Amino acid sequence: MSAPRRMHLGWFMNFTRPAWTTPWVSDAEAREWTDGEYHVDWIRAMERAKFDFMMLEDSSMVSDGFRGTMDADLKHSLYAPKHDPLALAPVLARETRNIGVVVTASTSFYPPFLLARSMSTIDHLSRGRIGWNIVTSSEDRAAQNFGLDTLYEHDARYDRADEFVEVVEGLWGSWKPGALVADRATGTYVDASRVAPIHHEGRFYKVRGPLNTLPSPQGRPVYLQAGGSPRGREFAARHADAVICAAQGVPAMREFRDDVRTRAKAHGRDPDDVKVMFITLPVVAASHREAQQVFEEMQNPSETAVEISLGHMGALTEIDFSTVDPDAPLGDLQTNGHRTTLEKFTGLGGTLREATGRWATRYTNPAFVGTPDQVAAAMAEEFDEVGGDGYLITGGGSRRAIAELTDGLVGSLSDLGRVRRTYEHELFRDNLLAF
Ligand SMILES: Cc1cc2nc3c(=O)[nH]c(=O)nc-3n(C[C@H](O)[C@H](O)[C@H](O)COP(=O)(O)O)c2cc1C
Repeated sequence: MSAPRRMHLGWFMNFTRPAWTTPWVSDAEAREWTDGEYHVDWIRAMERAKFDFMMLEDSSMVSDGFRGTMDADLKHSLYAPKHDPLALAPVLARETRNIGVVVTASTSFYPPFLLARSMSTIDHLSRGRIGWNIVTSSEDRAAQNFGLDTLYEHDARYDRADEFVEVVEGLWGSWKPGALVADRATGTYVDASRVAPIHHEGRFYKVRGPLNTLPSPQGRPVYLQAGGSPRGREFAARHADAVICAAQGVPAMREFRDDVRTRAKAHGRDPDDVKVMFITLPVVAASHREAQQVFEEMQNPSETAVEISLGHMGALTEIDFSTVDPDAPLGDLQTNGHRTTLEKFTGLGGTLREATGRWATRYTNPAFVGTPDQVAAAMAEEFDEVGGDGYLITGGGSRRAIAELTDGLVGSLSDLGRVRRTYEHELFRDNLLAF
C-alpha cells in the first residue's frame, strides 16, 4: 500500500496581543508581547511540529466601523494594537531554521520599489524563508492613512495588483545571476553589465529601477493570496504559490480547488505548483466532551462576543452593524470592502444575532471537535476527499492553545503519517512544493 498523502500546514495569525482575557495569559504577557518573545515561542512550537509556515495577517488602521467610534476597536483590541509583521519576520527567522514566515503587505498602499527592497532584504536575513501574502486591502480607514479618501474599487484593486506584481518581479530580476563578483584582482564588487534599469511605465506605476539589493536566496518571496471573488481567484491562480481558501465542506472546497487549478493551467502553470490551503479552526481538548463544550460556547456568543464580532465585520465591510436591527432578518447589504466575507456572512441567514453565532464557528467543521486523535482522523478523511493540499490553522492565542494544536493535533497527524517528519529543503518554496 502506498503511503498516505501528506498535508501542508500553515498558521494564520498576527502580531498582536495574546488572548489576554483567558486564564492562560499572565498580566505581564498581556502587555509585553511587543518584544516578539511570545511570537518566537509560537513559531518554535510550529517548527517542532514541522509546519510549512506562519502567516502574519495585517491591516493599517484603527477602526471606527462600529457605532462610528473607535471605542469598540480599542476596548476589545480588534484591529489595534497591531504591530508591523515585516519588522517581526527577521526576528522569527533568526530564532528558527526551516519554517517559512509569511508577511502580509498591501499592493494598494506600498510603493512597489519599497516592497521589493524590503522583501529582498528579509529573504536574505531569513536565508530564503520569506513569503508575501499579497492583499489589496479592504478598508477606507486604512486608505485614509495613505493619502486616499477611499479605497480603489474592488476589481480595480486587483488590476493595480497585477501591475504591482509585474513591477516587483521586474525589480527582483534587475540583477542577473553572477552580478556579484567581489573580485579583488580587478577591484570589482558588482559587474555593472549584469544590472539594468527596468524603465517601467504602466497604467498605475512608473519605476526606473534597478533594485539596490542583491538577488535574494529565493529570487522572490513565496506568494500567498486569499482572493475569493472571481477576480480574486483569477489573480491568485495567475501568481500565487499557495491560495488561502475560506470554503467549508467537501463540495465547496473541491469546487474552489478545482477552479483555481483550472485557472492556473489556463495561465500556463502546473496546477501542482499552486497549493490550496483551507482555513480551519479545530477545537481540541483532552476529551470529546470538553471540546464539545467549548464548541457550544463559541456558537452561543455573549453580548461582548457579539460586539467583538460585529466590530470585526464592520471594519472589514465598512458597514456599521450597530444600525442594523439585531433581531430582524438580514437584508441585502453591499460593500466595496471584503466582498466575499460579506456574502458569506449574509449567507448564514437568520437575524444579525443568529448569523453572529454561526460566524464564530464558520471555520470549525463539527467533525474537527474532539481529542487530538479524533480531529486528526477527521482532517485526514476530509483532506482525502478534497484531494489536497493542506490546512491553514487559525485560533490559538495562548501557549496552552498553541501546544494543544502543535504537540496535540499535529502530533496525532504526524503519527498518522499525514505531515512531514523533517524539512527536506533549505528554501521555503522548495519545502512547499516538495509534495
Ligand atoms: C485567511 C485570510 C487572511 C486574510 N488576510 C488578510 C490580511 O492580512 N490583510 C488584508 O488586507 N486582507 C486579508 N484577507 C482578505 C483577502 O486578501 C481578500 O481581500 C478577501 O479574501 C476577499 O476576497 P476578494 O477581494 O477576492 O473578494 C484575508 C482573507 C482571508 C480569507
